Amino acid sequence: MRIDVHLTPEDLTEGLRADARAGLTATPKSLPPKYFYDAYGSDLFERITDLPEYYPTRAEREILTAHAADIARDTGVKTLVELGSGSSDKTRLLLDALHAQGTLGRFVPLDVSQPALAAATEAIAKDYPDIEVHAIVGDFTRDLDRIPGGGGRMVAFLGSTIGNLEPGERAAFLRELRGALEPGEWLLLGTDLVKDAETLVAAYDDAQGITAEFNVNVLRVLNRSLGADFDLTAFEHVALWDAQHRWIEMRLRAQREMLVHLPALDLSVEFRPGEEMRTEVSAKFDRQTVATELAAAGFALRQWWTDSHDRFGLTLAQATDRPTRR
Ligand code: SAH
Ligand code: TRP
Repeated sequence: MRIDVHLTPEDLTEGLRADARAGLTATPKSLPPKYFYDAYGSDLFERITDLPEYYPTRAEREILTAHAADIARDTGVKTLVELGSGSSDKTRLLLDALHAQGTLGRFVPLDVSQPALAAATEAIAKDYPDIEVHAIVGDFTRDLDRIPGGGGRMVAFLGSTIGNLEPGERAAFLRELRGALEPGEWLLLGTDLVKDAETLVAAYDDAQGITAEFNVNVLRVLNRSLGADFDLTAFEHVALWDAQHRWIEMRLRAQREMLVHLPALDLSVEFRPGEEMRTEVSAKFDRQTVATELAAAGFALRQWWTDSHDRFGLTLAQATDRPTRR
């Protein structure tokens, strides 16, 4: 087992400084989502995946359970790469199917969260002793060139994490990913699907308040990493469906007027009562938009599966001969 660190805690704090300055001085204010996932945030996300309202994890697991063997047979992959791997829990269905087929030699999980990655990687190395496990602490918007080569690879990007990128970032990410692959190599992409607003909003605003705690955690990270003095109790979790952009938007709403200090940035920021700061989008898809966005980046859709309630889509795509360059 090996863990390559291409993103140290210092790099992460450096990025946070720049992103927090840009986001907190913009109108409206916003913060980028990758900072949710410190050890506590990764833990909270795992609890989200068990919530009754958060259907995406169960729906994607249902699809993987039904089709992991088809995926293994169609692809015959030797190296499974996973981006934003987190606990790699569902990924075990793929590892089992590929392992049973006898083609799999290597697993390469990549995540920004070092604690989550280390825990998942150790457990997998122990449970799959004859697979080489090569973990990468990195940012999938920046470090795709660190993925080891060798051909016969499949990149799994599950959990609809792709929906947390903005449309422009998403297109750039898919082009980068295509550039990191050889023609014929594979992408397995999980995407949550457009559905009624009530179901969607409930998935991001659960009754127990775990998602609210997860959202507020980004402020805890700012307090710890930048010495900020956000009052965590003075921000309210907001989740709303934006039908025009077809995404769920997560916000934090200031419940009173506040002046927040960020000494590491030599910055003070004012919040009006009721002011909302955007912390995350989670775009929702349909088969056509997935196929179109993949084609624009140089991937061809080979298989499309949904769960029994058509809530979630899993796409098996293949890198085509000519990546589209812009
Ligand atoms: N794949 C898992 C986890 C999804 S949560 C699942 O399907 O349940 C999103 C994961 O992506 C988290 O583990 C988070 O740490 C990671 N992540 C978020 N932004 C990232 C980035 N820019 N680069 C690498 N990993 C990132
Ligand atoms: N990729 C997950 C999603 O978009 C991430 C997520 C789930 C999330 N619940 C959240 C992000 C709540 C922020 C807040 O579904």
